Amino acid sequence: MKIAIASDHGGVNIRKELKRLMDELGLEYEDFGCECGTSVDYPDYAILVAEKVASGEFDRGILVCGTGIGMSIAANKVKGIRCALVHDLFSAKATREHNDSNMLAMGERVIGPGLAREIAKVWLTTDFEGGRHENRLGKIKAYEEN
Ligand code: RB5
Repeated sequence: MKIAIASDHGGVNIRKELKRLMDELGLEYEDFGCECGTSVDYPDYAILVAEKVASGEFDRGILVCGTGIGMSIAANKVKGIRCALVHDLFSAKATREHNDSNMLAMGERVIGPGLAREIAKVWLTTDFEGGRHENRLGKIKAYEEN
């Protein structure tokens, strides 16, 4: 599984922690920034990573900003992206099992790096359940296609 990761200036510490986690898990990833000494615009990073996932170049994407909200809103504008804003372990598991989310967004002004690491670990290692959820995702896809 290939993962694309990025943050704005508000999410640098969690991004660093998640890179350590992915190293430990032996996952392949690419870091798309930011190289922030200064404040940057989260949509630039969200759309960049979302397009990499939507094109199939990467299997999953992870985004971090101050709240995770801006990143998730922007990523979900890209066709084929199901970006889940998650700040708890239950949702991390549920969004993989039920929504087959292909992107994860978190906010560093909301949670610390320790919880973010546990959330990412669950999200990266939980499979989609399929079944009745396929039909529901199909309805989202059908809407997106029109
Ligand atoms: C940046 O100040 C902040 O707005 C951003 O990191 C994020 O929280 C947006 O949703």
